[in-house]
Amino acid sequence: MVEECRKCPLWKNRNKPVFGEGPPDAKIMLIGLGPGYHEDREGRPFVGAAGKFLNKLLDSVGLKREEVYITNVVKCYLPENKVTDEEVKACTPYLDKQIELVDPETIIALGNTAAEYLSKKYRFQFTSMEKMHGQVLRIPTISREVKIVLMYHPAAGLRNPPLRSVIEDDWRKLSLICHKNNK
Ligand code: URA
Ligand code: SF4
Repeated sequence: MVEECRKCPLWKNRNKPVFGEGPPDAKIMLIGLGPGYHEDREGRPFVGAAGKFLNKLLDSVGLKREEVYITNVVKCYLPENKVTDEEVKACTPYLDKQIELVDPETIIALGNTAAEYLSKKYRFQFTSMEKMHGQVLRIPTISREVKIVLMYHPAAGLRNPPLRSVIEDDWRKLSLICHKNNK
């Protein structure tokens, strides 16, 4: 259980672990990096500034936040928004299990760490977000074809305003897939 987990040093920082939220049979899963200050207070993913931007992006493609599953690569507070490989390794069995149970048709990586995790899991080459943002990869797996979408982290658009319109454009292009998925 994530509540009692002490598999990596990040447990010391946390107030509430942030496991994830959304319908257990969601067709779309979003994976961020890890909880920030507000997420740690509330125990919910993407409730701070980056979350507000994410809500707008979801809205722009006609998705309701309640219909997607939202989680992160690591589940405990990251005071400086940084993770080590060891922390990712310790925590991602939880994410593996979430993907197995939700079994989404589409997984949207929000930022580099999620993209790297997915590239290892699904065996594709991830060079950089600069080169691959907005791409949709179709990965055959035993149970189904999984679509993997590579997106900049919404917080990157807040830190770096010129990226904001790039991110909005990437999401706009995604809208077709989202609607097909929702039928
Ligand atoms: N940033 C993330 O990566 N995840 C959150 O839940 C919030 C901010
Ligand atoms: Fe456990 Fe993950 Fe928290 Fe580390 S970040 S203590 S592995 S739940």
